[in-house]
Amino acid sequence: MIFMKKHLILPQLALAASLAFTGFAAHAADIKGDANAGQGKVWLCIGCHSIPDYRADYPLVYRVPMLGGQNGPYIASSLAAYKKGERKHPTMRSIAASLSDQDMADLGEYYAAQTASSPNNPLK
Ligand code: HEC
Repeated sequence: MIFMKKHLILPQLALAASLAFTGFAAHAADIKGDANAGQGKVWLCIGCHSIPDYRADYPLVYRVPMLGGQNGPYIASSLAAYKKGERKHPTMRSIAASLSDQDMADLGEYYAAQTASSPNNPLK
């Protein structure tokens, strides 16, 4: 009897797990970053991230990382990690808290498109 029950329940669990996973993948695929849209959103970031060797001094002295040329999905997922609190930097947490998933994807694509030699790009 116990043996039979297991056989009935396990496939259902597997199905539930695979449905949950499919749902997640579909959600992530819906959001596509747009570098042009991102350009309209970087005004929030340029005070710190566009200055070579800039250091933020609150609450401690932090080196502000260069974003231009980094991988777009990496930037978006870093922002999501700040928003969720998985990454702890207080300034970036409060900035990321105001961003939607779409904003993060757009910003990621915008910064990914920047390189040291990008012309007309004061906002790297
Ligand atoms: C007040 C200064 C400041 C502003 C404004 C700011 N940042 Fe940051 N950002 C930092 C600092 C300092 C770090 C490094 C924090 C750490 O060590 O986790 C950082 C880290 C990051 C990282 C992680 C980079 C990496 O290499 O892992 C990303 C991505 C990022 N910021 C994106 C943004 C975006 C996009 C904006 C605008 C929406 C923004 N930041 C606005 C100061 C700032």
